[in-house]
This record gives sequence, structure tokens and C-alpha cells, in this order.
Amino acid sequence: MLFKALKKNKERDIDLENLPKHIGVIMDGNGRWAKKRGLPRSAGHKAGAESLKKIVTEANNLGVKYITVYAFSTENWKRPKAEVDYLMDLLMDYLINAEKTLAGENVRIRAIGSRKELSEEMRKQIKKTEELTKDRSGIVMNIALNYGGREELVHSAKKIAEAVRNGKMAPEDITEKEIEDGLYTAGQPDVDLLIRTSGEQRLSNFMLWQVSYAEMVFVHKLWPDFKPKDLIECIKIYQGRGRRFGGI
Ligand code: IPE
Ligand code: IPE
Ligand code: MG
Repeated sequence: MLFKALKKNKERDIDLENLPKHIGVIMDGNGRWAKKRGLPRSAGHKAGAESLKKIVTEANNLGVKYITVYAFSTENWKRPKAEVDYLMDLLMDYLINAEKTLAGENVRIRAIGSRKELSEEMRKQIKKTEELTKDRSGIVMNIALNYGGREELVHSAKKIAEAVRNGKMAPEDITEKEIEDGLYTAGQPDVDLLIRTSGEQRLSNFMLWQVSYAEMVFVHKLWPDFKPKDLIECIKIYQGRGRRFGGI
């Protein structure tokens, strides 16, 4: 693995000592990709899922430790039912096939977001895939599924309120750590590099807490056109930025 990464590095000229630990990806533009080709939006989502496999594999080969991909937002339920159903089926297949595809690449898969609105079948499959890949030593892939940054903060606040009500914690004990502990990404580093494809420049409720100091890279390519070499390009841009975290 290391050799593979070193070889790639030589070809691609990125600093493997200064990789983002956690990459967040807002995979946007599937619908426009399909429209450009006169295809139904579903074809764009299908192509997007292929793109995702390649990008996660590349990130893992490089040695990135965490990647969170925005697959379905808490707002995406507003879409026509047929599209929502298609996306859910696609995600289901993705999870089912993960054993053969991504887990073979040593990827540890987790789902982040609210589960109670998902189908029973989906909830079961998420558990199964998480269990199956939990001992993998490669990249941790968080699939943000029915995820919203605001919902996540509400979820964390409720946990804290419960602890206070049960007398396990006093309001003065609440610090950033307690809020972080209640996030779906508890224990993981903050996002260092946030990539959004399709030219849109907004967060759309993605990881509001975790992107506080992320370097943001917005690319014009539509998600199905985003290739491993584009990921390398984004990492290079990240490595060229001066991060100060409020210091000088
Ligand atoms: C991103 O592509 C995938 C999801 C939001 C599920 P879109 O479906 O948002 O594609 P555009 O933005 O309409 O092109
Ligand atoms: C964000 O994309 C959600 C995902 C990529 C899953 P959207 O396409 O839903 O975001 P908006 O509506 O353009 O802000
Ligand atoms: Mg979109």
C-alpha cells in the first residue's frame, strides 16, 4: 500500500506528509450531468455512484484517513417520490455491494444522519455493512444519508439535555467537547478539506460544526465527471493554502 502511494506521489507531485486527514465531499451535479446527455436524472445518480467508488479508492490509496460523502440530505425528501425512491435503491445497492467492492479495498463504512426516517430494510443493511467493515484498517467512509448539519446539532443537544435531566451533567459542564461527543462523527477529526462539485458555492446543511476551519474547494465539474486526478488537484490546492486557525 505504501509503495503504491509513494509511486503515485512521484507521478502526481503531492505531499503525502501533508494530506488532509478528513475530506468532506458534496457530490453535486448528477441531475445536470444527465440533462446534458438527454438522460433521466436517475442515470446521473447511477454515474455518480460509480464516481464515488473511484474517489474513495483513490483517497484510501493515498492514505487519507476519513472521507465523508453527502449522499442524501434531510432536505432531499422534497424531491419527487420517484427520484427519492431511486436514490434509496441506489444507496441500498451501494451498501450491499460494499463487501465486494469497497471493503475489498479495506474501507470501513459508516452511515451518518438520522435513521428513524429510513426504511426498516435500509436500517438493517446499514447495520450489516457497518458491522461487516468495522475492523477494516483503511479509510473510514462516512456516508451522509438523511443527514443535515442542523439535525445533527439538535441530536447532540438532546443527548446533553438528557444527561442534564438525569443529573449526570450540570449545564456549566457543557463545553465544545460535549457537543462534539454527540455528533455522528464523534471521535473523528474535523474536516480539513471540503470539496463541492458542480460550481455551486454553498454548504447546503453539510457538517456545519466540522467544517469550521476546513479549506473549501469548489470545482466546476459535475460529480459524475469528477475523476481521481481531480481529487489530486483538490489536494494540491489544499496543500497550497496557508491555514492559520486564527493565529498569525
Ligand atoms: C447530487 O446531484 C446528488 C444528490 C443531491 C442526491 P443532484 O441531484 O443535486 O444534481 P443537480 O444539482 O440537480 O444537477
Ligand atoms: C446537496 O446537494 C446534497 C447532496 C449532495 C446529497 P443539493 O443539490 O441537494 O443542494 P442544493 O439544493 O443545490 O443546495
Ligand atoms: Mg444538486
